[in-house]
Amino acid sequence: MFELIKALPADPILGLIADFGKDKNPDKVDLGVGVYKDESGQTTIMKAVKKAEAICHQTEQTKAYIGPAGVPEFIDGIRPLIFGDDHPALQDKRVSTVLTPGGCGALRVGAEFLLRCADSVTVWVSDPTWANHVPLLGNAGLKLVTYPYYDQTSSQLLFDEMMSALVAAKSGDVVLLHGCCHNPCGADLSEEQWQAVTALAKKNGFLPLIDLAYQGFGRGVDEDAYGPRLMAERLPELLVASSCSKNFGLYRERTGSLSVVGAQSHHGEAAITHINNVVRGNYSMPPSHGGAIVGTILQDQALRKIWESELEMMRNRLNSVRALLVDRLKNCGADRDFSFIAEQFGMFSFLGITSQQVRRLRDDFGIYMVESSRINLAGVNKTNVDYLASAIVATIKS
Ligand code: LMR
Repeated sequence: MFELIKALPADPILGLIADFGKDKNPDKVDLGVGVYKDESGQTTIMKAVKKAEAICHQTEQTKAYIGPAGVPEFIDGIRPLIFGDDHPALQDKRVSTVLTPGGCGALRVGAEFLLRCADSVTVWVSDPTWANHVPLLGNAGLKLVTYPYYDQTSSQLLFDEMMSALVAAKSGDVVLLHGCCHNPCGADLSEEQWQAVTALAKKNGFLPLIDLAYQGFGRGVDEDAYGPRLMAERLPELLVASSCSKNFGLYRERTGSLSVVGAQSHHGEAAITHINNVVRGNYSMPPSHGGAIVGTILQDQALRKIWESELEMMRNRLNSVRALLVDRLKNCGADRDFSFIAEQFGMFSFLGITSQQVRRLRDDFGIYMVESSRINLAGVNKTNVDYLASAIVATIKS
């Protein structure tokens, strides 16, 4: 049975981990997979997480099954984190949430749930979008179409083009939006643009599915949730997939959530029975360790303060290395304007170079990024920025 199976190439993003690891270049720079790194290039465990883990270790009484919706303390904490403490949708009990294995789990379960709502569902995804959106949603059986979002040549958000395309998104269609820190381009919707998309969703009746994978990495925890909060207030229905991989640094613990906002509380509750059923048929129930950590942090004032300040430090570092890289590219004599990088948010931006140039940076300088020229800014630091900037400029000019 297996003899006809042909090996697949490595994943376009995760495959970079192994390639980078094998590279013997002492100056190599990892701008590949979206993992936060500090100024010394390390991905350390957040202090708040370590402390919460110690508390969980002491207080946990059982490893018995927990049920498909996961850790209750997590759900009580993550909902107000996403939607805001006093959000009317929470007061009206319109939001039902489950713990999922990462943001990926939330997207996949959300996709299967959507197919319980209609025989065939079209999802509009931004062009470009995170590469893994395609298998997560497409392999579940949703039909994907794209809307224009960002032009790499001009480094501009294509908002007018996006809105013109989405006029064709109708009731029964789903529109996938990046809540903040767009992956891969870093160009986010302004508040006015979120309002315009919300008004269009209301008028045309399409369902927004918001992927909130970087809350707290852009402008702030509350600021980054502007889109989901606005939509939950103005629209009858919404799905939000959130991830704790980046903002709690829980990558391998696979911790995320899926929230269903229904027109009335019983709609969300009925939806959760289907979501629980989808979960049961896939992985039965989520792992609880990451959810217990997040629940502990969000319910403990002191731990929450530590977490917020660590997150703020990460956000500030990302924003400052953006400015630093732009400055050094200019100093190295770049003949194009990279200032857009400092105006974007989150871990990622496109350099806007060709795949051949990406390949040359890897082969000649040991600089790793996704083939599309997406860079993870967290890999930039004061030690490597000059090497990086001069390599990029040399590659563009050659
Ligand atoms: C990324 O985009 O690099 C991260 O979200 C990691 C992943 O799973 O692709």
